[in-house]
Amino acid sequence: MKRVVFDRFGPPAEVLRIEDDVPAPQPGFGEVLVRMLASPVNPSDLMYVAGKYGLKPALPATPGFEGVGVVEATGGGPLAWWRKGKRVAVINDRIGNWAEYTVTKARQVVPVPDEMSDEQAASFFVNPATALAMTQDVLKVPRGAWLLQSAAGGELGKMVIRLGYKLAFRTINVVRRREQVEELKKLGADHVIVESDGPIPEQVRKLVPDGVRYAIDPVGGATGAQVIASLSHGGRCLLYGSLSDEPVSVHPRYFIGNDLRVEGFWLGAWAKKQGVLTMLKLFRRVRALMREGVLQTHFAATYPLEDVAKAVEHAAAPGKGGKVLLRIGVR
Ligand SMILES: NC(=O)c1ccc[n+]([C@@H]2O[C@H](COP(=O)([O-])OP(=O)(O)OC[C@H]3O[C@@H](n4cnc5c(N)ncnc54)[C@H](OP(=O)(O)O)[C@@H]3O)[C@@H](O)[C@H]2O)c1
Repeated sequence: MKRVVFDRFGPPAEVLRIEDDVPAPQPGFGEVLVRMLASPVNPSDLMYVAGKYGLKPALPATPGFEGVGVVEATGGGPLAWWRKGKRVAVINDRIGNWAEYTVTKARQVVPVPDEMSDEQAASFFVNPATALAMTQDVLKVPRGAWLLQSAAGGELGKMVIRLGYKLAFRTINVVRRREQVEELKKLGADHVIVESDGPIPEQVRKLVPDGVRYAIDPVGGATGAQVIASLSHGGRCLLYGSLSDEPVSVHPRYFIGNDLRVEGFWLGAWAKKQGVLTMLKLFRRVRALMREGVLQTHFAATYPLEDVAKAVEHAAAPGKGGKVLLRIGVR
Protein backbone atom coordinates (compact mmCIF):
# COMPACT_ATOMS: atom_id res chain seq x y z
CA MET A 1 0.00 0.00 0.00
CA LYS A 2 0.88 3.68 -0.22
CA ARG A 3 1.26 6.00 2.79
CA VAL A 4 2.60 9.40 3.81
CA VAL A 5 5.56 9.36 6.23
CA PHE A 6 7.97 11.76 7.91
CA ASP A 7 11.39 10.78 9.25
CA ARG A 8 12.08 14.01 11.16
CA PHE A 9 9.97 16.78 12.68
CA GLY A 10 9.89 19.96 10.59
CA PRO A 11 7.87 22.08 8.12
CA PRO A 12 5.26 19.62 6.76
CA ALA A 13 5.75 20.52 3.07
CA GLU A 14 9.48 19.74 3.46
CA VAL A 15 9.51 16.62 5.60
CA LEU A 16 6.51 14.62 4.33
CA ARG A 17 7.15 12.03 1.63
CA ILE A 18 5.20 9.20 -0.03
CA GLU A 19 6.18 5.61 0.63
CA ASP A 20 4.99 3.13 -2.01
CA ASP A 21 4.58 -0.58 -1.74
CA VAL A 22 4.70 -1.08 2.05
CA PRO A 23 2.71 -3.93 3.67
CA ALA A 24 -0.69 -3.00 5.12
CA PRO A 25 -0.77 -2.96 8.96
CA GLN A 26 -2.35 -5.94 10.75
CA PRO A 27 -5.19 -5.40 13.25
CA GLY A 28 -4.81 -6.89 16.73
CA PHE A 29 -7.66 -8.09 18.98
CA GLY A 30 -10.32 -5.37 19.36
CA GLU A 31 -8.91 -3.50 16.35
CA VAL A 32 -10.08 -2.97 12.77
CA LEU A 33 -8.28 -2.65 9.43
CA VAL A 34 -9.73 0.33 7.53
CA ARG A 35 -9.39 1.08 3.82
CA MET A 36 -9.15 4.86 3.87
CA LEU A 37 -11.27 7.03 1.58
CA ALA A 38 -10.42 10.58 2.67
CA SER A 39 -8.82 12.56 5.49
CA PRO A 40 -8.73 16.31 6.19
CA VAL A 41 -5.60 18.34 6.90
CA ASN A 42 -6.23 19.86 10.33
CA PRO A 43 -3.99 22.32 12.23
CA SER A 44 -3.28 19.47 14.70
CA ASP A 45 -1.84 17.32 11.86
CA LEU A 46 0.48 20.16 10.83
CA MET A 47 1.65 20.69 14.43
CA TYR A 48 2.18 16.92 14.87
CA VAL A 49 4.50 16.81 11.86
CA ALA A 50 6.29 19.97 13.05
CA GLY A 51 6.91 18.33 16.46
CA LYS A 52 4.79 20.99 18.22
CA TYR A 53 1.83 18.83 19.25
CA GLY A 54 0.96 17.22 22.59
CA LEU A 55 1.62 13.76 21.08
CA LYS A 56 5.08 12.90 19.75
CA PRO A 57 5.35 9.69 17.71
CA ALA A 58 8.37 7.44 17.27
CA LEU A 59 9.79 8.18 13.79
CA PRO A 60 9.19 7.43 10.99
CA ALA A 61 5.48 8.15 11.46
CA THR A 62 2.31 8.76 9.43
CA PRO A 63 0.04 11.75 10.21
CA GLY A 64 -3.77 11.98 10.03
CA PHE A 65 -5.89 12.02 13.20
CA GLU A 66 -9.30 11.66 11.53
CA GLY A 67 -10.90 10.60 8.26
CA VAL A 68 -13.38 8.23 6.67
CA GLY A 69 -12.91 4.69 5.40
CA VAL A 70 -14.41 1.21 5.12
CA VAL A 71 -13.72 -1.55 7.68
CA GLU A 72 -12.19 -4.38 5.64
CA ALA A 73 -11.03 -6.80 8.35
CA THR A 74 -10.85 -7.19 12.11
CA GLY A 75 -8.44 -8.69 14.59
CA GLY A 76 -11.36 -10.21 16.53
CA GLY A 77 -13.68 -9.05 19.28
CA PRO A 78 -17.44 -8.39 19.23
CA LEU A 79 -17.35 -4.63 18.52
CA ALA A 80 -14.76 -5.04 15.72
CA TRP A 81 -16.88 -7.81 14.15
CA TRP A 82 -19.97 -5.56 14.37
CA ARG A 83 -18.16 -2.81 12.43
CA LYS A 84 -16.98 -5.04 9.54
CA GLY A 85 -17.98 -3.81 6.06
CA LYS A 86 -19.26 -0.46 7.40
CA ARG A 87 -18.24 2.99 6.20
CA VAL A 88 -16.93 4.70 9.30
CA ALA A 89 -15.44 7.93 10.64
CA VAL A 90 -11.94 6.93 11.79
CA ILE A 91 -10.24 8.43 14.82
CA ASN A 92 -6.58 7.50 14.95
CA ASP A 93 -4.02 8.78 17.45
CA ARG A 94 -1.62 5.89 16.93
CA ILE A 95 -0.54 5.05 13.38
CA GLY A 96 -2.11 7.81 11.25
CA ASN A 97 -4.80 7.94 8.57
CA TRP A 98 -2.85 9.38 5.62
CA ALA A 99 -2.40 5.91 4.13
CA GLU A 100 -4.38 3.53 1.92
CA TYR A 101 -4.91 1.25 4.94
CA THR A 102 -4.79 1.96 8.64
CA VAL A 103 -5.50 0.18 11.91
CA THR A 104 -7.31 1.62 14.90
CA LYS A 105 -9.33 0.43 17.89
CA ALA A 106 -12.87 -0.71 17.01
CA ARG A 107 -14.25 1.77 19.55
CA GLN A 108 -12.54 4.61 17.62
CA VAL A 109 -14.57 4.06 14.45
CA VAL A 110 -18.10 5.42 14.17
CA PRO A 111 -20.52 4.18 11.46
CA VAL A 112 -21.81 7.04 9.30
CA PRO A 113 -25.13 7.16 7.44
CA ASP A 114 -25.12 6.46 3.68
CA GLU A 115 -26.39 9.93 2.84
CA MET A 116 -23.44 11.63 4.58
CA SER A 117 -20.78 12.53 1.99
CA ASP A 118 -17.21 11.25 2.37
CA GLU A 119 -16.08 14.87 2.87
CA GLN A 120 -18.37 15.49 5.85
CA ALA A 121 -17.76 12.02 7.30
CA ALA A 122 -13.99 12.63 7.07
CA SER A 123 -14.41 15.64 9.39
CA PHE A 124 -16.83 13.97 11.77
CA PHE A 125 -14.85 14.18 14.96
CA VAL A 126 -12.12 16.77 15.61
CA ASN A 127 -13.93 20.07 15.01
CA PRO A 128 -17.61 19.10 15.51
CA ALA A 129 -16.97 17.29 18.80
CA THR A 130 -14.70 20.09 20.06
CA ALA A 131 -17.23 22.82 19.24
CA LEU A 132 -20.00 20.87 20.94
CA ALA A 133 -18.01 19.67 23.98
CA MET A 134 -16.49 23.09 24.73
CA THR A 135 -19.72 25.06 24.54
CA GLN A 136 -22.23 22.49 25.84
CA ASP A 137 -20.35 20.06 28.12
CA VAL A 138 -17.51 22.12 29.59
CA LEU A 139 -18.60 25.78 29.59
CA LYS A 140 -22.31 24.89 29.41
CA VAL A 141 -23.03 28.31 27.87
CA PRO A 142 -26.65 29.13 28.84
CA ARG A 143 -29.23 30.53 26.45
CA GLY A 144 -28.86 34.29 26.11
CA ALA A 145 -25.28 34.37 27.50
CA TRP A 146 -22.39 35.94 25.56
CA LEU A 147 -19.53 33.84 24.20
CA LEU A 148 -16.47 35.55 22.71
CA GLN A 149 -14.27 33.63 20.28
CA SER A 150 -11.15 34.41 18.26
CA ALA A 151 -10.25 32.82 14.88
CA ALA A 152 -14.01 32.85 14.34
CA GLY A 153 -13.73 32.56 10.55
CA GLY A 154 -12.08 29.13 10.71
CA GLU A 155 -14.08 25.94 10.25
CA LEU A 156 -14.43 25.32 13.99
CA GLY A 157 -15.28 28.98 14.63
CA LYS A 158 -18.11 28.81 12.09
CA MET A 159 -19.51 25.70 13.81
CA VAL A 160 -19.57 27.62 17.11
CA ILE A 161 -21.44 30.50 15.44
CA ARG A 162 -24.06 28.13 14.00
CA LEU A 163 -24.36 26.36 17.37
CA GLY A 164 -24.93 29.71 19.07
CA TYR A 165 -27.64 30.59 16.57
CA LYS A 166 -29.35 27.21 17.03
CA LEU A 167 -29.04 26.98 20.81
CA ALA A 168 -29.68 30.70 21.47
CA PHE A 169 -26.38 31.73 23.06
CA ARG A 170 -24.95 34.95 21.66
CA THR A 171 -21.56 35.18 19.95
CA ILE A 172 -18.97 37.94 19.53
CA ASN A 173 -16.54 36.82 16.88
CA VAL A 174 -13.01 38.08 16.28
CA VAL A 175 -11.53 37.83 12.77
CA ARG A 176 -8.34 39.16 11.21
CA ARG A 177 -9.77 39.66 7.70
CA ARG A 178 -12.56 42.23 7.19
CA GLU A 179 -14.05 40.33 4.24
CA GLN A 180 -15.24 37.63 6.68
CA VAL A 181 -17.59 39.98 8.58
CA GLU A 182 -20.61 39.64 6.30
CA GLU A 183 -20.13 35.89 5.76
CA LEU A 184 -20.13 35.24 9.53
CA LYS A 185 -23.17 37.46 10.12
CA LYS A 186 -25.06 35.42 7.52
CA LEU A 187 -24.21 32.27 9.52
CA GLY A 188 -25.84 33.77 12.62
CA ALA A 189 -23.01 35.68 14.33
CA ASP A 190 -24.46 38.38 16.65
CA HIS A 191 -21.34 40.55 16.27
CA VAL A 192 -18.13 40.29 14.30
CA ILE A 193 -15.13 42.42 15.24
CA VAL A 194 -11.97 42.90 13.23
CA GLU A 195 -8.78 42.65 15.27
CA SER A 196 -7.11 45.60 13.52
CA ASP A 197 -10.00 47.96 14.45
CA GLY A 198 -8.66 48.36 18.00
CA PRO A 199 -8.02 46.44 21.23
CA ILE A 200 -10.45 43.51 21.53
CA PRO A 201 -11.52 44.33 25.17
CA GLU A 202 -12.50 47.88 24.10
CA GLN A 203 -14.47 46.61 21.12
CA VAL A 204 -16.17 43.97 23.29
CA ARG A 205 -17.09 46.43 26.07
CA LYS A 206 -18.79 48.72 23.55
CA LEU A 207 -21.16 45.79 22.89
CA VAL A 208 -21.31 44.23 26.38
CA PRO A 209 -20.21 46.86 28.97
CA ASP A 210 -19.35 44.39 31.77
CA GLY A 211 -17.45 42.02 29.46
CA VAL A 212 -18.36 38.47 28.46
CA ARG A 213 -18.90 35.56 30.81
CA TYR A 214 -17.53 32.93 28.38
CA ALA A 215 -14.68 32.87 25.87
CA ILE A 216 -12.71 30.39 23.75
CA ASP A 217 -9.37 31.08 22.09
CA PRO A 218 -7.25 28.93 19.72
CA VAL A 219 -4.73 31.68 18.86
CA GLY A 220 -2.79 32.53 22.05
CA GLY A 221 -0.21 35.34 22.09
CA ALA A 222 -1.55 38.91 22.10
CA THR A 223 -4.93 37.75 20.78
CA GLY A 224 -5.40 35.21 23.59
CA ALA A 225 -4.39 37.81 26.20
CA GLN A 226 -6.96 40.27 24.83
CA VAL A 227 -9.67 37.60 24.78
CA ILE A 228 -9.00 36.94 28.49
CA ALA A 229 -9.03 40.70 29.18
CA SER A 230 -12.55 40.84 27.68
CA LEU A 231 -14.04 38.56 30.38
CA SER A 232 -16.49 39.84 32.96
CA HIS A 233 -16.00 39.28 36.71
CA GLY A 234 -16.22 35.50 37.31
CA GLY A 235 -15.66 34.81 33.60
CA ARG A 236 -14.26 31.61 32.16
CA CYS A 237 -12.07 31.04 29.11
CA LEU A 238 -10.89 27.87 27.37
CA LEU A 239 -7.56 28.01 25.50
CA TYR A 240 -7.74 25.27 22.89
CA GLY A 241 -5.11 26.04 20.25
CA SER A 242 -1.80 27.82 19.68
CA LEU A 243 -2.16 29.18 16.14
CA SER A 244 0.13 32.18 16.84
CA ASP A 245 2.74 29.90 18.48
CA GLU A 246 3.17 32.69 21.10
CA PRO A 247 2.69 32.57 24.88
CA VAL A 248 -0.29 34.31 26.47
CA SER A 249 0.78 37.08 28.85
CA VAL A 250 -1.79 38.36 31.35
CA HIS A 251 -1.00 40.12 34.65
CA PRO A 252 -1.84 37.88 37.64
CA ARG A 253 -3.70 40.78 39.33
CA TYR A 254 -6.19 40.60 36.49
CA PHE A 255 -7.06 36.98 37.33
CA ILE A 256 -7.13 37.63 41.07
CA GLY A 257 -9.20 40.82 40.94
CA ASN A 258 -11.73 39.41 38.50
CA ASP A 259 -12.06 35.86 39.82
CA LEU A 260 -11.30 34.41 36.38
CA ARG A 261 -10.88 30.80 35.34
CA VAL A 262 -8.68 30.11 32.31
CA GLU A 263 -8.22 26.45 31.35
CA GLY A 264 -6.78 24.39 28.54
CA PHE A 265 -9.09 22.16 26.51
CA TRP A 266 -7.89 19.18 24.45
CA LEU A 267 -10.54 16.95 22.90
CA GLY A 268 -8.43 13.77 23.07
CA ALA A 269 -7.80 14.17 26.81
CA TRP A 270 -11.39 15.20 27.48
CA ALA A 271 -12.78 12.21 25.53
CA LYS A 272 -10.59 9.76 27.49
CA LYS A 273 -12.25 10.98 30.73
CA GLN A 274 -15.80 10.40 29.44
CA GLY A 275 -17.68 7.12 29.76
CA VAL A 276 -18.74 5.05 26.73
CA LEU A 277 -22.34 6.30 27.06
CA THR A 278 -21.33 9.97 27.05
CA MET A 279 -19.25 9.42 23.92
CA LEU A 280 -22.06 7.52 22.17
CA LYS A 281 -24.42 10.35 23.04
CA LEU A 282 -21.89 12.88 21.71
CA PHE A 283 -21.57 10.99 18.40
CA ARG A 284 -25.36 10.92 18.10
CA ARG A 285 -25.58 14.67 18.71
CA VAL A 286 -22.77 15.33 16.18
CA ARG A 287 -24.53 13.17 13.57
CA ALA A 288 -27.83 15.02 14.04
CA LEU A 289 -26.23 18.48 14.01
CA MET A 290 -24.20 17.59 10.90
CA ARG A 291 -27.40 16.54 9.17
CA GLU A 292 -28.91 19.95 10.04
CA GLY A 293 -25.83 21.72 8.63
CA VAL A 294 -24.82 23.15 12.02
CA LEU A 295 -21.58 21.16 12.31
CA GLN A 296 -20.77 21.05 8.60
CA THR A 297 -17.30 21.61 7.18
CA HIS A 298 -16.63 23.66 4.06
CA PHE A 299 -13.81 22.36 1.86
CA ALA A 300 -11.57 24.73 -0.11
CA ALA A 301 -9.71 22.04 -2.08
CA THR A 302 -9.08 18.31 -2.50
CA TYR A 303 -5.72 16.73 -3.30
CA PRO A 304 -4.71 13.12 -4.02
CA LEU A 305 -2.41 11.50 -1.42
CA GLU A 306 0.59 11.85 -3.79
CA ASP A 307 0.18 15.66 -3.66
CA VAL A 308 0.44 15.78 0.13
CA ALA A 309 3.14 18.49 0.01
CA LYS A 310 0.82 20.80 -1.96
CA ALA A 311 -2.08 19.92 0.34
CA VAL A 312 -0.24 20.84 3.56
CA GLU A 313 1.09 24.04 2.00
CA HIS A 314 -2.46 25.02 1.04
CA ALA A 315 -3.79 24.10 4.50
CA ALA A 316 -1.22 26.37 6.19
CA ALA A 317 -1.93 29.38 3.95
CA PRO A 318 -3.70 32.38 5.55
CA GLY A 319 -7.15 33.07 4.10
CA LYS A 320 -7.49 29.62 2.53
CA GLY A 321 -11.29 29.79 2.95
CA GLY A 322 -12.03 26.21 4.06
CA LYS A 323 -10.53 22.84 4.91
CA VAL A 324 -8.17 20.94 2.67
CA LEU A 325 -9.00 17.28 2.04
CA LEU A 326 -6.77 14.38 1.04
CA ARG A 327 -8.67 11.97 -1.24
CA ILE A 328 -7.21 8.52 -0.69
CA GLY A 329 -9.66 6.02 -2.21
CA VAL A 330 -13.19 5.64 -3.59
CA ARG A 331 -16.21 3.88 -2.08
N1 LIG B 1 -7.94 21.49 21.59
C1 LIG B 1 -8.61 20.70 20.78
O1 LIG B 1 -9.04 19.60 21.15
C2 LIG B 1 -8.87 21.16 19.38
C3 LIG B 1 -9.75 20.44 18.55
C4 LIG B 1 -10.03 20.93 17.27
C5 LIG B 1 -9.39 22.08 16.81
N2 LIG B 1 -8.51 22.72 17.64
C6 LIG B 1 -7.84 23.95 17.21
O2 LIG B 1 -8.80 24.85 16.73
C7 LIG B 1 -8.16 25.78 15.87
C8 LIG B 1 -9.01 26.01 14.64
O3 LIG B 1 -9.11 24.80 13.89
P1 LIG B 1 -9.84 24.83 12.46
O4 LIG B 1 -9.88 23.44 11.96
O5 LIG B 1 -11.06 25.64 12.53
O6 LIG B 1 -8.75 25.61 11.60
P2 LIG B 1 -8.95 26.42 10.24
O7 LIG B 1 -10.20 26.08 9.55
O8 LIG B 1 -7.63 26.28 9.55
O9 LIG B 1 -9.12 27.93 10.72
C9 LIG B 1 -8.12 28.61 11.39
C10 LIG B 1 -8.60 30.04 11.60
O10 LIG B 1 -7.66 30.68 12.44
C11 LIG B 1 -7.26 31.90 11.86
N3 LIG B 1 -5.86 32.11 12.25
C12 LIG B 1 -4.80 31.32 11.94
N4 LIG B 1 -3.69 31.81 12.51
C13 LIG B 1 -4.05 32.93 13.16
C14 LIG B 1 -3.35 33.89 13.92
N5 LIG B 1 -2.02 33.78 14.13
N6 LIG B 1 -4.04 34.93 14.45
C15 LIG B 1 -5.37 35.04 14.26
N7 LIG B 1 -6.11 34.16 13.54
C16 LIG B 1 -5.44 33.12 13.00
C17 LIG B 1 -7.45 31.72 10.36
O11 LIG B 1 -7.66 32.98 9.80
P3 LIG B 1 -7.64 33.25 8.21
O12 LIG B 1 -8.97 32.71 7.71
O13 LIG B 1 -7.53 34.71 8.13
O14 LIG B 1 -6.47 32.49 7.65
C18 LIG B 1 -8.69 30.84 10.31
O15 LIG B 1 -9.86 31.64 10.36
C19 LIG B 1 -6.76 25.20 15.62
O16 LIG B 1 -5.84 25.85 16.45
C20 LIG B 1 -6.89 23.77 16.05
O17 LIG B 1 -5.67 23.20 16.45
C21 LIG B 1 -8.25 22.28 18.89
